[in-house]
Amino acid sequence: MKVASSITEFADLRDELETPSPRPTLAFVPTMGALHDGHISLIDLARSLADTVIVSIFVNPLQFGPGEDYARYPRPLEDDLEACRRHGVDVVLVPTVADLYPAGRQVSVNAGQLGTVFEGAARPGHLDGMLTVVLKLFNLVRPDIAILGQKDAQQLACIRRMVADLNVGVDVVGAPIVREFDGLALSSRNRYLTPPERTSALALSAAVRAAREQDTPEKAYLAAYDVLERAESDPLFALGYLALVQPTTFVEVTDDHVGPALMVVAATVGTTRLIDNVELTFTGRELDD
Ligand code: PAJ
Repeated sequence: MKVASSITEFADLRDELETPSPRPTLAFVPTMGALHDGHISLIDLARSLADTVIVSIFVNPLQFGPGEDYARYPRPLEDDLEACRRHGVDVVLVPTVADLYPAGRQVSVNAGQLGTVFEGAARPGHLDGMLTVVLKLFNLVRPDIAILGQKDAQQLACIRRMVADLNVGVDVVGAPIVREFDGLALSSRNRYLTPPERTSALALSAAVRAAREQDTPEKAYLAAYDVLERAESDPLFALGYLALVQPTTFVEVTDDHVGPALMVVAATVGTTRLIDNVELTFTGRELDD
């Protein structure tokens, strides 16, 4: 495995990947490091889909708001490189902030309407900053496919929208959410949770699980809300939002909605902000209770 600690070093490695002809297919997994089994599942999927796997590790300052956890975000680089090595990654790109954001930068990506709701409303500028770095990384890496987790559903929807709207020639592949044995969605931020906070955090996955068993949008919402309302009696747990949305636009669906929908939930547990979601499909037929 090769590690490039600057974008110029990476450019040389990337050029080498142009040979032999026909050029091997290239899959890219962008990450902020602190790799867990969710990230690893993306790397394994990349490995199964392409000849060459490139992973980037970059904690992107542009997607953190003031007062968010940019400074304390975990950066266990040696462990991350070891995990990449174990999972057959070919090249790891670890750029520096100065590398990606030299002084004088002016142009950035705007996520549009999708960047202003839910995660975009709770974290202003987050999705714009995320798209900006993802587009820069796509331009540097020039992958055939990019693997992104469904865990960050709105991020994935924004990236798909950007790729379509800006004619970015990358196939975006969504990968399923990896969960702990008890349902908690894996996240690098789970490391911040104290044991009681971790127990409280289970309300998110319990809520989306409850929604899954329902056959109408209204029942799904109420089932999830019921779980979250009970969780709110816990002082550690503060609900951010719960909504049933159209999966590509994040416009809320109506009670008579038929077809796919996404239930999205966010909460702050202690001081840690967590998100979860589940894909649901409504047939329009209500089953007897
Ligand atoms: P990061 O939070 O490190 O996540 C990197 C990738 O791992 C994302 O595509 C995310 O959706 C996926 N992922 C995280 N937890 C997962 C889980 N439990 N199951 C499946 N996939 C999971 O997301 C980012 O970094 C950044 O915003 C980035 C895209 C790298 C841009 O800076």
